[in-house]
Amino acid sequence: MEICDYADTSAPVHYCYEIGNMDATRLNGDHGTKGETSMRCLVTGGAGFIGSHLTDRLIAEGHDVAVIDNLSTGVRSQVHEKARFHQTDIRDRTAMDRVFAEEKPEAMFHLAAQMDVRRSVADPGYDADVNLIGLLNLLEAGRRNGLQFTVFASSGGAIYGEQDVFPAPEGHEKRPCSPYGVSKYAGELYLNYYHIEYQLGYAAMRFANIYGPRQNPHGEAGVVAIFAVKLLRGETPTIYGEGRQTRDFVFVLDAVDSMVRAMKTRKTGAYNIGSGVETDINTIAAHLIQAAGFSGQAAHAAAKPGEQMRSCLDAGKAKRELGWSPSRDVDAGLRETMEWFRTRKY
Ligand SMILES: NC(=O)c1ccc[n+]([C@@H]2O[C@H](COP(=O)([O-])OP(=O)(O)OC[C@H]3O[C@@H](n4cnc5c(N)ncnc54)[C@H](O)[C@@H]3O)[C@@H](O)[C@H]2O)c1
Repeated sequence: MEICDYADTSAPVHYCYEIGNMDATRLNGDHGTKGETSMRCLVTGGAGFIGSHLTDRLIAEGHDVAVIDNLSTGVRSQVHEKARFHQTDIRDRTAMDRVFAEEKPEAMFHLAAQMDVRRSVADPGYDADVNLIGLLNLLEAGRRNGLQFTVFASSGGAIYGEQDVFPAPEGHEKRPCSPYGVSKYAGELYLNYYHIEYQLGYAAMRFANIYGPRQNPHGEAGVVAIFAVKLLRGETPTIYGEGRQTRDFVFVLDAVDSMVRAMKTRKTGAYNIGSGVETDINTIAAHLIQAAGFSGQAAHAAAKPGEQMRSCLDAGKAKRELGWSPSRDVDAGLRETMEWFRTRKY
């Protein structure tokens, strides 16, 4: 079992599953238990925020893990030293054929993506290149090399768009309003095609807003990481609009847990991974301001045109079929996240 030291910024950061506020009784038996059948797993995007935590968890469970990442936003030192690392791009078909021939993964966790919504609007071709051609390269190489099951990092908020009902179930009408949302939904349709044609199983995890340790504070998304780092520097965070826009926030280890459960359950289909609770941005800022011990208040700037106002996912299906439910509420998750960022230098 990995034991890690949050405070050591020079060492690879393998976020622990044993410490912190993880509800060991709830999640025990499904993580950190070596001795279950070990699987050959491939994690794309395994140097990134969610993918690196997932890699740690799979290794803690005794699985054999290979990682693909081009390090465009990922961090090499976040990749567990027991994982074999392939620094390559999923758009490179020859490289994907080579990695699959070498690794012969039984399970693939596909997280590598172009996930910047504004970039997808500015350059929809690049978004499709990474999120669709990249996915097809992986599925083609996979079907020829014995791949059995794919767990795909999809997006609930981006696929449903403005919702009619709160929280949205999986059957909600799909109204993606960015090329990113379109490519995530099209990715699910391709996975379904490969399931029908080649019997490749898949679970599409329609994530809500995932936050926690290791999230990149320099991107356009990831409000928790952005605010946390600003506050710790003593700077005022900026909320766009009135701050009443809501999102559904899920702690990263819970997102990881859903993916591992999906891999073990092997049921093909889509799963919302959300808390079902709407939290507005003013509330997130207030929690983080308190956790940081910041004496000021958040500033407000003009709303971003076209920004989605509300988003919240019904994860009843994940609970019924995967036995998944979130282990932390936003208050506990934000405090834990703030403590982690406090030990980092940005
Ligand atoms: N973070 C969220 O709130 C959230 C919500 C919904 C869905 N998702 C999805 O989850 C996945 C992981 O997101 P994250 O938040 O960990 O982001 P991240 O940027 O930390 O991780 C993505 C990883 O993919 C790698 N990558 C990007 N393009 C690549 C390419 N062409 N070839 C190889 N590697 C490439 C990056 O270097 C990075 O390490 C993404 O697919 C994202 O769309 C995330």
